[in-house]
Amino acid sequence: MKILVTGGAGYIGSHTVVELLNAGHEVAVVDNLSNASVRSLDRVEEITGKKVHFYEVDIRDDVTLDEVFKNEQPEAVIHFAGLKAVGESVEIPMKYFDNNIGGTLTLLHVMKKAGCKNMVFSSSATVYGKPETVPIREDFPTSVTNPYGRTKLVIEDILKDLYKSDPSWNVILLRYFNPIGAHESGRIGEDPSGIPNNLLPYIAKVAVGKLEKVSVFGNDYDTPDGTGVRDYIHVVDLAKGHIKAIEKIEKEKHVGCKIYNLGTGTGYSVLDIIEAFGKACGKEIPYVIAGRREGDVDTVYADPSLAKEELGWSAEYDLSKMCADTWRWQSQNPDGYGE
Ligand code: NAD
Ligand code: WQD
Repeated sequence: MKILVTGGAGYIGSHTVVELLNAGHEVAVVDNLSNASVRSLDRVEEITGKKVHFYEVDIRDDVTLDEVFKNEQPEAVIHFAGLKAVGESVEIPMKYFDNNIGGTLTLLHVMKKAGCKNMVFSSSATVYGKPETVPIREDFPTSVTNPYGRTKLVIEDILKDLYKSDPSWNVILLRYFNPIGAHESGRIGEDPSGIPNNLLPYIAKVAVGKLEKVSVFGNDYDTPDGTGVRDYIHVVDLAKGHIKAIEKIEKEKHVGCKIYNLGTGTGYSVLDIIEAFGKACGKEIPYVIAGRREGDVDTVYADPSLAKEELGWSAEYDLSKMCADTWRWQSQNPDGYGE
């Protein structure tokens, strides 16, 4: 299929483009490079030996996006483009509403005009808020704890309403748990600008000597060792989930509007992760116990069985591979893409 990938130069996007190309799909990428380097796509081409058509375009720019659709005539869109920093979204919510929600609306108008009605959207486990029980199923109640999460929930609702109004759309909402890891070549990976907000990139920067020690945000949670438990998933497994979603649309033609959790179903604590990363890089990771981070919850992990049943997808890689691949990327590229 001919797929247009928004945000395809970013972390999850670049890994997904590799898997799409490996699976024989044709890919065009639209990215405004607000949180990515175009070098990621050079490396995608190096890994796959295939070409990616790249457009440095903001998805809010309807005129240029329209031209991209005319040029490429994609049959489906995988929509990653968006801002994702939870803390920043609390400080500057309008930036998130404008970019994430506004950008998606513009994209949907352009898709409709082009007659392209197949959409796979990057949603997040953040839409489950503070779950009452785990593992989390797709039919659990949704709620939000910050403006970033609100953008995901609003976009999910927009897509559901759009499908109701016109069932010729195919919409697959993928709710990711905690993506980590990197491509095993060590050529592409996560390259956050400034001090990382998320646990794995932070640990990786400590391991490579760029940061001093990890602050563990609370050890008084109701979990086995008191630290937060999450469902970490290898980014390549996550990327493969998108290929399965695209294949479902390709095969079935009318899939409706579907929601799938993409997680492993296993939870690990912050201390488990620090220990596993230490083993992968061969050094002890220094850490201190700090206070809780506002908005954090005790335990989040997925019930991924629906994705297994309906997409034929399940995660393959374990925590030691997630850490080993993150370390390979970080140690071979201590400055990320170097921009
Ligand atoms: P990322 O920042 O690496 O990728 C997002 C990409 O979108 C970047 O390349 C950025 O330059 C681009 N972009 C942002 N706004 C744009 C706009 N207006 N026009 C064009 N391009 C734009 O982030 P990621 O981790 O790869 O996340 C991809 C998607 O998955 C996001 O929608 C994110 O909210 C979602 N998600 C991420 C996580 C996670 O923990 N990484 C978890 C759940 C969901
Ligand atoms: C994981 C665990 C922290 C950093 C976030 C977003 C979520 C989704 C995925 C996009 C928690 C602890 C962290 C540190 C720590 N993104 N921690 N020290 O919060 O589960 O999810 O990314 O949709 O919306 O909120 O991920 O990696 O920030 O934290 O102790 O320096 O690590 O308290 O228990 P989180 P995370």
